[in-house]
Formats: sequence, C-alpha cells, structure tokens
Amino acid sequence: MKLIMLGPPGVGKGTQAQKMSEKFGTKHISTGDILRNAIENSTELGIMANNYVSKGELVPDALMLDLIEATLFGEDSPSSFILDGFPRTIPQAKALDKLFNKNNTKLNAVLLLDADFDLIAKRLSARRVCKNCQAVYNLLTNPPKVEGKCDKCGGELYQRDDDKLDTIKRRLDVYKTQTEPLIGYYKESGLLKKVDSSGSPEEVFNRILNILGG
Ligand code: AP5
Repeated sequence: MKLIMLGPPGVGKGTQAQKMSEKFGTKHISTGDILRNAIENSTELGIMANNYVSKGELVPDALMLDLIEATLFGEDSPSSFILDGFPRTIPQAKALDKLFNKNNTKLNAVLLLDADFDLIAKRLSARRVCKNCQAVYNLLTNPPKVEGKCDKCGGELYQRDDDKLDTIKRRLDVYKTQTEPLIGYYKESGLLKKVDSSGSPEEVFNRILNILGG
C-alpha cells in the first residue's frame, strides 16, 4: 500500500496514518516529525528548517525533495508507506511523480481529510505530543492516563510551538494558497478520495477502511 494523506493542519492526518500503520504494518512517514526531530537534534537540516517551521511557513522545496528521496528510495526503502505532510506544493507533487516513475512505483490513493476551521483550531490548541516517541494526544478528546506523560513510553508530553493560535492561522493560510491546489492535481489523476474527518478517530478510521476496501 502506498498512500498520501492530504488535508489542512490538525485535520487528523497523523492520527489516521498512525492507526493505519498499526493495523497494516505500513511505514508512517511524517515530514513534520522528521523536521521536528532534526530541529531538536540541531542537525544541518534542522538548523535550516527551524526558521520556517516555527513561523508556520513551508520549508523550501529543494530541501524537502532531498529528504523525501532519501527516505523513500535510499537505504532501507520501505515497500509500503503512508506519506503524511508530503507533498505540500505542486512542485513537490510533480517531483514526487518523477521519483515514482524513476523507481517504478505507483501510488494507490491520495486521502483528502476534511473538517471545518473551528474543529481544526480546537483540535490543534489541545494537542500534546510525546517528546520521545511522537505519540499524539488531545487534552479534550484523547488525554493521557497520567497528566503530562505518554501512555506508550512514559515520555514527557509537550505543546508544539506552531500550535499557538497565531501560527495555526498562518499555517491554514499557507495550506489554502500552497497546498490546496494539490486537490485538483490529484483529482485529475483519479487518485483522490475524500474523507469526512469530523467525528471520533475510530469513526474516521472506519470511513478510511471502507474507502480503501471498496
Ligand atoms: P506537519 O507536522 O506535517 O503539520 P500539519 O500538516 O500542519 O499537520 P499537523 O501535524 O498539525 O496535523 P495532523 O493533520 O497530522 O493532525 P493530528 O493527527 O496531529 O508540518 C509542520 C511544519 O513542518 C509545517 O508547517 C512546515 O513548516 C514543515 N513541513 C512539513 N512538511 C513539509 C513539506 N512537505 N514541505 C514544506 N514544509 C513542510 O491531529 C490534531 C489533533 O487533533 C491531535 O491532538 C489529535 O489527537 C486530535 N484528533 C485527530 N483526529 C481527531 C478526531 N477524529 N477526533 C478528535 N480529535 C482528533
């Protein structure tokens, strides 16, 4: 299975990709997680990306393309994967198509998760993430059993810098101008499947399973 998760910030791409990865053993590749990890470890990539990520802007395409080529087709390339957060611009999508052609790889589907702004803002401001294993929680809908601690590994939970209201608004603007055009791009290729992302994570997951099975 080779999938792309598309949709605005906070719509639940990571949550659903994680569920699919647990059910099918598919590799979950989140470019946001890779960048945050690089920033935390002050790698060369992290130092270059930090200024963009903290402001809710997109990291330049050239950097992202090197990263994605190495992740998908470098050493230990996964046989099945879910791309969460990539592509995010038309040039990224075109470059990804070229990479797939070069490596005789085909996408199965592009899942477009959809929800309204109020729901997204509520979800993002209550999100907490594990510093250690990147598991995602929500103080309103999916709180950890022990406050501030990850259920899975006991790691410390934190709020992402870009989950403050001003940066959330900027990220949504960036999504509208730079990422939304991908909807038309993938509609044309016949790969796009729309998923209503309101309701509980389990309800959304069942919709995805129905779409992929049908
Ligand atoms: P990234 O980490 O990809 O952020 P994003 O796309 O903005 O997506 P999010 O991680 O915020 O949300 P999500 O849809 O995964 O929602 P989640 O499942 O966590 O990117 C961050 C930054 O990195 C970008 O701004 C950019 O700077 C840079 N970047 C990354 N990729 C790039 C690229 N390709 N090119 C250039 N720059 C790039 O859910 C959100 C919350 O809601 C959680 O608390 C969750 O528990 C809760 N929740 C989820 N689903 C439900 C549900 N059904 N019911 C109730 N609560 C729910």
